[in-house]
Amino acid sequence: MKILVIGAGNMGLTYAEGMSKSKLLKKRNIMVLDTSEEKLEELRNNPQFDAFDDLKKCAPQADIIFIAVKPYHAESVFLKLNPLVKPGQILISIMAGVTIDTIKHLTGLTKIVRAMPNLPAQIGRGLTSFVASEDVSRIELLTIESLLDTTGKSVLVSDENFIDASTGISGSGPAYVFYFMQSMMEAALKMGFTPNVSKILVAQTFTGAIELFNQNELSPNSWMDKVASKGGTTRAALDSMENNNVGELIKDAAFAAFERAVELGKEKVHV
Ligand SMILES: NC(=O)c1ccc[n+]([C@@H]2O[C@H](COP(=O)([O-])OP(=O)(O)OC[C@H]3O[C@@H](n4cnc5c(N)ncnc54)[C@H](OP(=O)(O)O)[C@@H]3O)[C@@H](O)[C@H]2O)c1
Repeated sequence: MKILVIGAGNMGLTYAEGMSKSKLLKKRNIMVLDTSEEKLEELRNNPQFDAFDDLKKCAPQADIIFIAVKPYHAESVFLKLNPLVKPGQILISIMAGVTIDTIKHLTGLTKIVRAMPNLPAQIGRGLTSFVASEDVSRIELLTIESLLDTTGKSVLVSDENFIDASTGISGSGPAYVFYFMQSMMEAALKMGFTPNVSKILVAQTFTGAIELFNQNELSPNSWMDKVASKGGTTRAALDSMENNNVGELIKDAAFAAFERAVELGKEKVHV
């Protein structure tokens, strides 16, 4: 199996590096194409990949074409790919808002996977949600799942609406966690801790809570009940959040991202 990654930016290289560790691939079976001379120079010095600057030399030999350019470059890449591709090839796109119908229409391919990654993919702890067109077989889906899992975990969803929905939860979600961390760090500073100690207090609290959560079947609500005793300090904080409707505001924020993903999808349809 040969994979072509188009776009050697943050995400393209993250997936290229992840997939190069897959047991499904033999060494040097990842081709990477970029238009930037600087990136090409770096790629040529990277023994993991074969670097290309011309689609004609790499697209026809790929079994899977993985597209990681910015959405505004999608149309020109698809139109260049169109005369070079053949029916059995699978195209995976991680471009926000670019729909399966658009990709089919512009490339002429029918085996399309649309995926939504998130930032922790860069350290192998990402979450990629993905959806596939009807022509992608079950066996091909298993291969794709295994390739996406090289950057963390993947979740197959049943239709494209869930790609926009997962943008509101896992795609944009790391920023919600950073928002919460920032507020806690500001509270720690206000209490008189140094910036360094504030950072340690907050980071270790997040890491510890998440590891507890992952090692157990308890829901977040059950964990809160375990930590907060009646009349205690944690209950005072949770009551303050409840009284200020923080939970509802977080849900509203996730829906704002979901709705924006739907809107961006409409703006970026080039057909
Ligand atoms: N970053 C995230 O957390 C995240 C999350 C979800 C989805 N995504 C999606 O991932 C995609 C890539 O994002 P990114 O942050 O990795 O972008 P990026 O760092 O800008 O990488 C894109 C790369 O593609 C190159 N490029 C541009 N036009 C090209 C062409 N015609 N052929 C080949 N290469 C071309 C760019 O070169 P130049 O720099 O010279 O233009 C750049 O090296 C986007 O579509 C985004 O929607 C990203």
